[in-house]
Amino acid sequence: MIRVAVAGAAGRMGRMVCETVSAADDLALTGQADPVLDTAVGDVLGDADVLVDFTRPDTALDNARAALEAGVHVVIGTSGFDLDGLREAAASSAAKAFFAPNFAIGAVLMMRFAAEASRVMARAEIIELHHEGKLDAPSGTAARTAEMMEGDVPIHSVRLPGIVADQEVILGDVAQTLTIRHVTTDRTSFMPGVLLAIRRVADLPESPVVGLEHLLFD
Ligand SMILES: NC(=O)c1ccc[n+]([C@@H]2O[C@H](COP(=O)([O-])OP(=O)(O)OC[C@H]3O[C@@H](n4cnc5c(N)ncnc54)[C@H](O)[C@@H]3O)[C@@H](O)[C@H]2O)c1
Repeated sequence: MIRVAVAGAAGRMGRMVCETVSAADDLALTGQADPVLDTAVGDVLGDADVLVDFTRPDTALDNARAALEAGVHVVIGTSGFDLDGLREAAASSAAKAFFAPNFAIGAVLMMRFAAEASRVMARAEIIELHHEGKLDAPSGTAARTAEMMEGDVPIHSVRLPGIVADQEVILGDVAQTLTIRHVTTDRTSFMPGVLLAIRRVADLPESPVVGLEHLLFD
């Protein structure tokens, strides 16, 4: 049984992670940290093997540091935090860290296909569309996609009600465009990826590992 604590447990993603972990036979939900629940991350680390963090860009790194210092593995979904800080914290801990800018399998494939297409098409731009409560822009997924692609890829951010998390990569060349589009209809799209990371984080060959693709493909 893997003991799992969730940071941001009262949030949109955190609530769903708590439900998903509770429903899994091999996982036990041992802690729910969130200022809304009056419970700090430090209060839940003692009973956990893995901390899952879906909080805010300005708190995720402190939460990860606290976990790693306590010998608790950490799975981070929060976007827009300081990744170099995580690398520093992970270097001095035996506990492992995993971060994915996007836990949805379709988004991981979109990033791969976009990277491949950018090597042969002239130019590309990214449009990322998210719900209006998202704090960071551009999204971590869009930033990572652009990083994986050839050339300078501009990113456009849309924030509107009615959207969960979508992204379009449009590639242009002589008299043609190619659009690679990933659409999520519900936050359950992220849960298989989160479960995979929780189950695999302790055995990672290095730390931190960034990107779900490292758990899915050789
Ligand atoms: N990687 C992915 O696949 C993925 C998918 C969806 C969302 N996200 C990211 O996850 C993060 C959370 O998204 P959300 O929509 O659930 O946000 P949200 O605002 O609904 O929830 C965040 C929660 O974190 C809590 N919180 C704030 N400070 C805290 C702290 N120090 N310790 C513990 N909890 C704290 C807040 O009270 C809130 O309940 C965002 O950064 C978002 O971009 C990532």
